[in-house]
Amino acid sequence: MSSPDRYAVAGNPVAHSQSPFIHAAFAAQTGQALVYERLLCPLDAFGPTVEAFAAAGGRGCNVTVPFKFEAFALARRHSPRAALAGAVNTLRFDSQGWWGDNTDGLGLVRDIEGNAGRPLAGRRVLLLGAGGASAGVLGSLIAGRPAELVLANRTLDKAAALVASHQAWAAEHGVRLATTTLDGCSGGFDILVNGTSASLAGAGVPVQGQVLRSGGLAVDMMYGAAARPFLDWAEAQGAEGRDGLGMLVEQAAEAFALWRGVRPETAPVLAALRAQLA
Ligand code: ATR
Repeated sequence: MSSPDRYAVAGNPVAHSQSPFIHAAFAAQTGQALVYERLLCPLDAFGPTVEAFAAAGGRGCNVTVPFKFEAFALARRHSPRAALAGAVNTLRFDSQGWWGDNTDGLGLVRDIEGNAGRPLAGRRVLLLGAGGASAGVLGSLIAGRPAELVLANRTLDKAAALVASHQAWAAEHGVRLATTTLDGCSGGFDILVNGTSASLAGAGVPVQGQVLRSGGLAVDMMYGAAARPFLDWAEAQGAEGRDGLGMLVEQAAEAFALWRGVRPETAPVLAALRAQLA
């Protein structure tokens, strides 16, 4: 009997990653024989570590902080959405080498539209941050055809560069795409997505004042204790707050489907994960 296919989450750190729990649950639910492990990559040796994993029979990896841009450089071929993002969160090994995709954006949009029941079409969306997290999701947010998408960042140049690389995509989808500094955000947004790492730096929520309309939606890509100040802030704005667990499970489901050709149900896995982390 052949041994089960091997997958892993590659990052640094990875000890906290919930991906092994999520993929084990998907595998059990869909009857797929696989093992999913944590692959701690030294900061200067992402490529060799992932390569050794593939040589030892690894079939695919999820890629997390801080290696999503390196994973893009490593992959020989890319999906269109990974090419637009310039970042990869899912690698699949095949006879032609590494193929890189990015399921973060679709995961976020599925959480916003599917789980939270908030269609993006025609809405005003504010995305905070212009690092890897925002780069991974901007294209998918645009594809949801909001009326307007404003990218706000502490460092305006970085926001401008990210917007420039997505301007043609936005025009194709009829979306007004603009940049601002964090203190230049005016009010009335329907949906706000926090892609900054400000909370990890202990800086809390990086915007001031009432930027969301009452009853709007505020999503942090973080979860756990790091998301707590953001969720409290959302409540004080009269908005619905969501942490990043829904996005995490949705992006994982998309990666699982790419690897295994079968789409798992996400709702029971998200509920189990929330119960486990409570
Ligand atoms: P990631 O890959 O997780 O997105 P990153 O590339 O370091 O990490 O990007 C972090 C983002 O959070 C950036 O947009 C950063 O703003 P700058 O581009 O100005 O550096 C933002 N960020 C981090 N700490 C912040 C803080 N204290 N206040 C506001 N924005 C912050």
